[in-house]
Amino acid sequence: MLDGPVGFVPTMGYLHAGHLSLVETARRDCASVVASVFVNPTQFAPNEDLSAYPRDLERDLELLDIAGADLVLAPAASDEIYPAGYDTWIDVGGITERLEGPARPTHFRGVATVVGKLFNIVRPDAAYFGQKDAQQALVIRQLIRDLNFPVQLVVRPTVRESDGLAMSSRNTYLQAGERRAATVLYRTLHRAQMLYEDGERSADAIRGAMQTLLDAEPLARPQYVSIADLETLDEVGTIDRPVLVSLAVRVGKTRLIDNLILPRGEEIRA
Ligand code: PAJ
Repeated sequence: MLDGPVGFVPTMGYLHAGHLSLVETARRDCASVVASVFVNPTQFAPNEDLSAYPRDLERDLELLDIAGADLVLAPAASDEIYPAGYDTWIDVGGITERLEGPARPTHFRGVATVVGKLFNIVRPDAAYFGQKDAQQALVIRQLIRDLNFPVQLVVRPTVRESDGLAMSSRNTYLQAGERRAATVLYRTLHRAQMLYEDGERSADAIRGAMQTLLDAEPLARPQYVSIADLETLDEVGTIDRPVLVSLAVRVGKTRLIDNLILPRGEEIRA
């Protein structure tokens, strides 16, 4: 038995400082901390990087130990979570159809299903997610509300490299030139923030300026640029409420996402 409250940090492993910041926050808030390391096959489409996804369980276990996890759930094979005949799915509505939705139509079904299952296995009091995957955090908030999970959602800020690139297990895919090009995501978000802080409130004007910066980076192929209501993820015309500024960009074969919330200081709340 673990002492309560229990904090839970679900991950797909290959841990970096972003993941560990969630574990450290859980350590501060909770008597016990559980982390999971599971590369969840159902959130990858057939054309995505499931088999190539980086893995290093031994290193992950060491890092989790140092960061203060008491227990790590690391199913050895995906049939421990999805035994033969598994056939129940959690489909969260409208919010999953925005941003990442069109490019990854089955992704959030896989995320919501595995997180729902992990909540039932771990029975945490609080669960920690990163703003890096802001849409995912909103999907989990909807899941918790709609299915009465007795779990407090905590969303923590994005941890970045010194040049602004958001930490991600997928950054390991980037070749040297691509790694330099990948800074365009943060530079683009930062430009949006500067324009906003100089008084610009037209979302189209800011989207246009973002697009111009992206177009100037030859190795980057933008997938979307969005300025959306932080609650509904509907695109806005005028920034007169908290918004999520987000983008997805292909750099080489790697698809990267990043975001920030305006105005500064706003955050995703439970
Ligand atoms: P994964 O990509 O491993 O991320 C695990 C958690 O770490 C997520 O909540 C994610 O938002 C957070 N995270 C990732 N990069 C971060 C960064 N740079 N700063 C702060 N937090 C960061 O997200 C998943 O795994 C999976 O979809 C999962 C929820 C585990 C379900 O399979």
